[in-house]
Amino acid sequence: MRHLISINDLLEDELKNLLDVSDDIEANPQKYRSVMDQKVLTNLFYEPSTRTSSSFHSAMLRLGGSVIQINEVQYSSVSKGENLQDTILTIGSYSDFIVLRSQYAGDAKIASEASQVPVINAGDGAGEHPTQALLDLRTIYKNKGALEGMKIVFVGDIANGRTVHSLGSYLQNNNECHYFESYEDMTSELSDADVLYMTRVQTERGSTESYELTRDHVDVLSKECIVMHPFPRNDELPRWFDLDPRAKYIEQMKHGLFMRMAILTTLE
Ligand code: NCD
Repeated sequence: MRHLISINDLLEDELKNLLDVSDDIEANPQKYRSVMDQKVLTNLFYEPSTRTSSSFHSAMLRLGGSVIQINEVQYSSVSKGENLQDTILTIGSYSDFIVLRSQYAGDAKIASEASQVPVINAGDGAGEHPTQALLDLRTIYKNKGALEGMKIVFVGDIANGRTVHSLGSYLQNNNECHYFESYEDMTSELSDADVLYMTRVQTERGSTESYELTRDHVDVLSKECIVMHPFPRNDELPRWFDLDPRAKYIEQMKHGLFMRMAILTTLE
């Protein structure tokens, strides 16, 4: 049994394999349509989610399995004081995978230590979000043809950004990574950036910054620089940029579906 708690859990050839399998799934979906026959995945979400939850849901259905969706934890025994471990043991009795999103960094690890089925970290507080990093890596690889030797500029709520923690943790080994909490400071690093990775201000974790991508920033970007964002976006990423060919954040969502199908297929 394998869990996916941190991006650092993955070996280099496992990442390569996930990229290959996700390509094969995209090219030959019929080959995979019953590989999860009779399998059940539980989406256990203690925090809101649109993309992560629905893409895992869609991934499991497209692989022939079923999904138990638990969003409103106030309707389960958690509101009666049940601890995470007991919740995980219970859900593991009824399902073959647990996709967990929680408010606290470290919860996914605690859950995996208690669990009898694979636990996939779908975001643990301000900790990590490894499956987002994997879909981000697929996006970069598809657009740039490499995962090394690039300049990556991260901007936004770096301290609270779990997607940045996971993606940066992988990329920093073989790339030049720059992290900015303010949009003013980053301008000098934009002209030769290969990837601009933006995130929102996480007000629910106490952040109060405000910033916005401006036309001046965009004018500095090279023609080849891709702009990514895990979403949800707020004011930092204006909609007028959506039609720019460098905007890859809608494409990222599609990569999320194929990558999560690949993750489920290979974790089993
Ligand atoms: C992110 C998350 O939940 O960490 N969303 C996502 O999964 N795509 C980013 C965020 O909430 O800002």
